[in-house]
Amino acid sequence: MLTVEGLQVTRGRTRVLTDLTLEVGAGEIAALIGSNGAGKTTTLMALSGLLPIAQGTATLRLDGQTFDLTRADPAKLVRAGLVHCPEGRQIFTRLTIEENLRLGAFLNRDEARVRALMDEIYALFPVLRERRHEAAGGLSGGEQMMLAIGRALMGEPRLLLLDEPSLGLAPQVTERIFDTLRDLNAERGVTLLLVEQNAMMALDIAHRGFVIREGRVELAGSGRDLLEDPHVMGAYLGLSA
Ligand SMILES: Nc1ncnc2c1ncn2[C@@H]1O[C@H](COP(=O)(O)OP(=O)(O)OP(=O)(O)O)[C@@H](O)[C@H]1O
Ligand SMILES: [Mg+2]
Repeated sequence: MLTVEGLQVTRGRTRVLTDLTLEVGAGEIAALIGSNGAGKTTTLMALSGLLPIAQGTATLRLDGQTFDLTRADPAKLVRAGLVHCPEGRQIFTRLTIEENLRLGAFLNRDEARVRALMDEIYALFPVLRERRHEAAGGLSGGEQMMLAIGRALMGEPRLLLLDEPSLGLAPQVTERIFDTLRDLNAERGVTLLLVEQNAMMALDIAHRGFVIREGRVELAGSGRDLLEDPHVMGAYLGLSA
């Protein structure tokens, strides 16, 4: 579904992505792991059209259609089904929960469909329904993450780019979020490209994983293989082999 080859992206004066190659198949969960500053967020931003791509190719294939991500308009990509759930959640704290969800469907003019999507999200995260008229800033960190995921789902993603869903969350809350991600993939067929510092949890649900370091993929393999790789264990899982 997604093919990225030799991607290079510059931020300020730094070439942050130097030569990034990865692939995500339709229906998969792919995990992109790596330490602080490795270029994970930069990768997702470049793929969703939020940062210019200097070199390399990035192609999205959906239902026989091909999108060149190196020159695509972000809104067109959202319409095609590429939705980005950004680092740090980026919810609008003064808007209500329902208003935040609606923003995820701002390209959708079909009010009945928007209502139906919202009902699906409320079924997935009942706490959001209970508090739908409250300001989003009053939600806990975990609930804000649910809202950020819900808002992304309002865009009806086929490929969902998720940047650090576990950031700042308690382990139990993270588990609940990861269970939801696994269900979204298994039951609704949403393809996921998941960026995580929590390498163990990400690789545990991933069909394939990529370890990024200094702007390039240093290791790639199945989630299981990477979990068992002594180098990955030492460097990213905090375990010594
Ligand atoms: N706006 C910016 N201008 C210049 N350099 C930037 C900018 N944002 C990030 N960088 C640099 O790009 C590099 C990669 O950053 P990026 O945010 O992609 O890393 P990351 O892997 O997501 O890290 P983290 O785990 O901390 O989120 C870092 O060296 C960072 O300092
Ligand atoms: Mg990041």
